[in-house]
Amino acid sequence: MNTSNIAVIAIDGPTASGKGTVAQRVALRLGFHYLDSGALYRLTALSALRKNVLLNDEHGLAKLAASLPCQFIGDEVWLAHENVTNAIRAEDVGNAASRIAALPAVRQALYGLQLGFRKAPGLVADGRDMGTVIFPNALLKVFLTASVEARADRRYKQLIDKGFPANMDDLLKDLKERDARDANRAVAPLKPAEGALVLDTSAMTADEAVEQVLSWFTAARHGAR
Ligand code: DC
Repeated sequence: MNTSNIAVIAIDGPTASGKGTVAQRVALRLGFHYLDSGALYRLTALSALRKNVLLNDEHGLAKLAASLPCQFIGDEVWLAHENVTNAIRAEDVGNAASRIAALPAVRQALYGLQLGFRKAPGLVADGRDMGTVIFPNALLKVFLTASVEARADRRYKQLIDKGFPANMDDLLKDLKERDARDANRAVAPLKPAEGALVLDTSAMTADEAVEQVLSWFTAARHGAR
């Protein structure tokens, strides 16, 4: 099936930039599907931690990624018969996800799975390489970012809300390390895609960011006609 004419909004950016919230709300407003590509790396990481697959075993990890028994049901993420929506958000899983995301065979194993999310009437895809690698012909590409302090603050609140322990200094250090790893890896490093519009949300509410993306999308749609 040719899906290349189905509209995609690619929203990339660093961890805890708020892109997940913004992407989900944009998808809801437009009635589009939503892809949380980070969840796929987190699911692979969680699966590896549970099955004792080493985080440098590229072949073993790629095998796990290629046969992930995952399902996205509304806001929930399931791995086989378990609801892992909260478990994949834990810091150790996020760190492991960031490490295995640097492995080309893992990225390759998740490639086709991600393309499968492109369905009518459209898709909002959230990640690091949505606009650069997975959907390079997206109708709109947004690079959504925020200062590391604003992001640490948001992550802190998220963790506390979910009942996880959190320490601000550790979070800041962790975010900086993860930024460096995501931006400096050899494959699909985090960087704005060509033609991406940059949105710095440090001093913006999620709703303001949503409105900006929607207005860019309307303009992109008109431009494409
Ligand atoms: O967005 P997130 O924090 O849930 O992503 C978890 C990790 O997965 C992140 O450290 C980098 C990686 N990732 C990636 O490499 N490519 C993507 N498209 C999405 C996430």
